[in-house]
Amino acid sequence: MSGDLFATSSAATRIAQLRDEIALHNHRYHVLDAPSISDSAFDALVRELQALEAEHPQLVTADSPTQRVGSPITGGFDEVRHDVPMLSLGNAFSDADAGEFFQRIADKLGRDDIAFSVEPKIDGLAISLLYVDGVLTRAATRGDGSTGEDVTHSVRTIPSVPLKLMGGDLPRVLEVRGEVYMPRAAFEAFNERARERRERTLANPRNAAAGSIRQLDPKVAASRPLAFFAYALGRIEPEATWTQHTDMLADFRGYGLPVCPEADRAVGLDGLLAYYRRIGERRDALPYDIDGVVYKVDDIAAQRELGFVSRAPRWAIAHKFPAREEQTVVEAIDVQVGRTGAITPVARLRPVQVAGVVVTNATLHNEHEVRRKDVRVGDTVIVRRAGDVIPEVVSVVLDQRPEGLVPFDMPTQCPECGSLLAREGDEAVLRCTGTGICPAQRKESIRHFASRRAMDIEGLGDAYIENLVDLGYVHHVADLYALTLDQLLEMKRRADERDGVVPETVKKGKVASRWAENLLAAIDASRKTSLPRLLFALGIRDVGESTAKTLARHFGALDRIASASEADLMTAPDVGPVVASRIAAFFAAPHQREVVDLLRARGVQWEEGEPLAAAGPLLGQTVVLTGTLSALTRDEAKEKLEALGAKVSGSVSAKTKFVVAGSEAGSKLDKARQLGIPVLDEAALLALFAEHGA
Ligand code: IVH
Repeated sequence: MSGDLFATSSAATRIAQLRDEIALHNHRYHVLDAPSISDSAFDALVRELQALEAEHPQLVTADSPTQRVGSPITGGFDEVRHDVPMLSLGNAFSDADAGEFFQRIADKLGRDDIAFSVEPKIDGLAISLLYVDGVLTRAATRGDGSTGEDVTHSVRTIPSVPLKLMGGDLPRVLEVRGEVYMPRAAFEAFNERARERRERTLANPRNAAAGSIRQLDPKVAASRPLAFFAYALGRIEPEATWTQHTDMLADFRGYGLPVCPEADRAVGLDGLLAYYRRIGERRDALPYDIDGVVYKVDDIAAQRELGFVSRAPRWAIAHKFPAREEQTVVEAIDVQVGRTGAITPVARLRPVQVAGVVVTNATLHNEHEVRRKDVRVGDTVIVRRAGDVIPEVVSVVLDQRPEGLVPFDMPTQCPECGSLLAREGDEAVLRCTGTGICPAQRKESIRHFASRRAMDIEGLGDAYIENLVDLGYVHHVADLYALTLDQLLEMKRRADERDGVVPETVKKGKVASRWAENLLAAIDASRKTSLPRLLFALGIRDVGESTAKTLARHFGALDRIASASEADLMTAPDVGPVVASRIAAFFAAPHQREVVDLLRARGVQWEEGEPLAAAGPLLGQTVVLTGTLSALTRDEAKEKLEALGAKVSGSVSAKTKFVVAGSEAGSKLDKARQLGIPVLDEAALLALFAEHGA
């Protein structure tokens, strides 16, 4: 009996330790964006905690990191009355509106050196989080401002929402308000996957956030990559001592709550407008959608003095950016053929300004999406442009559909080469089957080949590629290396003619020949390349830059990759069955082999080396690098270790042969010591390299 008690109390200690450690790493990863351990080491901590909790179920508490996803709720959402109403904000749509807002405040306060907390206006869903004694006890939506819905079960699953606040000096009750949102990249990735699986896509990140939270089953929210930013106070007990809103945000950060990193402080109207422009310029580059910025009088006493009008504070306003979604009319639907034959339907639009850019085309993704959205020529549609992703048609405005519009049918043949279109397996995309003959596929693959991150042929623009293919001078990428000066001049003459420009280049023959000589020189310069660049440039499906690098490093030579079996290919890190089959299929095609042979014959060269890990004194040994090395970078050390046959891993386990610890080595070194794994310092590593001539 006493033994059991002892076991329970030591388990309780370890459980508490693990929870703190996991919460800390979770905060570093999801809030600070500065992880300090590998994913696998983090997973190991969670697994250890799960195992202990399974053994001691009486020790499980709601604030344990293992309890983020609970059971579905039944019978709908409970109502939550907001003790302090959740207000909305007035809007400013112009600098003049913002000026009036500022002037009203300056008049009322009798001064104009007013400081503001300035924050992006996150385009998501407003949420109130209630922490009692530091523990998240309830999360609610805004609802009508006075009554919202209890969505605790969903909000708990958001990794950046702390289940427990950090720090020692916590208020007994803290109700924080903020926005739940879906980062744009996560939203795009979610839709991409949904399209592949022919499932419903989400209209925009805001709807995505709202739709994910208002679900009875918390598994839905847990499966969606949601995040949270805190920006306001609901209620606090005992009363707070903050005098400035920005100080409060700083304390929120201290509690482990995520606060938008772009939040700042600005003084005077000039300061507000400068912030508006600064954030506006960065809008497309921010990882989440914002629809404006919010100005809040920083001084809390001044906020009180200013008070409220109806449902909005007088001391704050939202200065809006141009909308990301606009309406326009579909004038035609075309299909485009990509490098790998993928057919993408594209809506040609009546030109419309969307968030500062004129949009004339929008992607409809694939046949299934056109059907699902039922987009027809003549329809009024909502177009969305966000970040640097291609504009897309979100939906049709059905009540503006004129009579007699016919549903869109995908062509059955490639519009460029007439080959049949076919689907591979149950893929959603149709592909042109004319690989090797389709001029559109050829143009796209040449464009990819010449692009900056591939062979980097400067000056070979899209229009030129188009003409070179149409004139029959270039059939495939290797033909670029057989182009003559005369051919380039002829191509340029035609291009100018087609564009309707006076063929200046013909009048001034010298200019044209200098242009052509430059392009030939750029093509020539690209002959000297590297194996990863060449591999990427070949345009093998699903072989991006990083896979190309991995393949090059693993196999060392192109011929070894070209002749490898799928099983051999899969011995390279991160190469799974799909990528392996793509590579094998590429090199099994006789015309692709011919192109590679021609590239060589026409002087394209790259360095080749030995395959990795086929030999070497460290063959089959797993090694971990940690801390900072001084004589070489971690990547260099990794490369040398791999050249000796070792596999370099990110986390220490029982299988680790040895750990190399540079200065300031942290948890990996501790773990190695715990497991009794040999540790080498930098000098020993250098000695090892010297011994083996690495
Ligand atoms: S403050 C009393 N700050 O905008 C002030 N709101 O139109 C309450 N929002 O319902 C709101 N980012 O959902 C504030 N940095 C921010 C915000 C923000 C987004 C949303 C919020 C609110 C709506 C008001």
